[in-house]
Amino acid sequence: MAILINGKEVSAEVKAGVAAEAAKLKEEKGLKVGLAVVIVGNNPASRVYVNSKKKACEEVGFQSFEYALDENTTQEQLLDLVDVLNRDSRVNGILVQLPLPKHIDENAIINAICVDKDVDAFHPKNVGRIMIGDYAFLPCTPAGVMELIAHTGVEVSGKNCVVIGRSNIVGKPMAMLLLHKSGTVTICHSKTQNIADITRNADILVVAVGKPNFVTGDMIKEGAVVIDVGMNRLENGKLCGDVEFASAEKKAGYITPVPGGVGPMTIAMLMKNTLTAAKQQSRVKK
Ligand code: GUN
Repeated sequence: MAILINGKEVSAEVKAGVAAEAAKLKEEKGLKVGLAVVIVGNNPASRVYVNSKKKACEEVGFQSFEYALDENTTQEQLLDLVDVLNRDSRVNGILVQLPLPKHIDENAIINAICVDKDVDAFHPKNVGRIMIGDYAFLPCTPAGVMELIAHTGVEVSGKNCVVIGRSNIVGKPMAMLLLHKSGTVTICHSKTQNIADITRNADILVVAVGKPNFVTGDMIKEGAVVIDVGMNRLENGKLCGDVEFASAEKKAGYITPVPGGVGPMTIAMLMKNTLTAAKQQSRVKK
């Protein structure tokens, strides 16, 4: 039976560290860390995420500035807002919740965010810095996964690491972070053949495909670390991951639950990035 990796507990530790540093920044420099969160339209999942991000800001003592824009907001209007936030000294980090409505070019918006305030690490310059291992911000979900793996005590170096999913937000940067820790990394995706043959070889398996119960116990190596990034809403309203938990926990050595695994870590790492941004900006201003 696998040991459960408790994302709530690990994220609470990360947030406590951030809160302590934020309090110190306020005391020593009179600086209150600020995060701007922008949401466009009425995507219910995005609303839940944005509310969680605002709540986390309160927990760690940050100011949050919410901009909830109408579904019909134009790209120009959104670019104007980003421009205002780039120049607002109260705002240390800018997060534009994705996905955006179809008439808005997401890349155009991401490219417009000031690199030093890009706490999602989605800007091409930050992506490039991750590639060469010289980064200020790590992308929140992959960074959270790395924290969870570290928490198990399992070393990444020399291990077979398999990432299922190749998105810009999770799969690709995830592979890069595992590679930086000297894992032997394989990325699987929708065109990969005989995926189970690959996953059965994984000492560390990270699943980010967005398909409920995609990975079953028979696809998992005995004792593997299994990290489930999926967050799928079933017809009955229940949340479920990309891993079939009941069969997977019988094979894995360590496994994350959904909810309560990766989700809380993404938000904790966002807080950490926002603190880093504030510290860097205060140094620049001195
Ligand atoms: N949509 C889903 N995940 C994320 C994330 O980490 N950041 C942003 N901005 N949007 C998302």
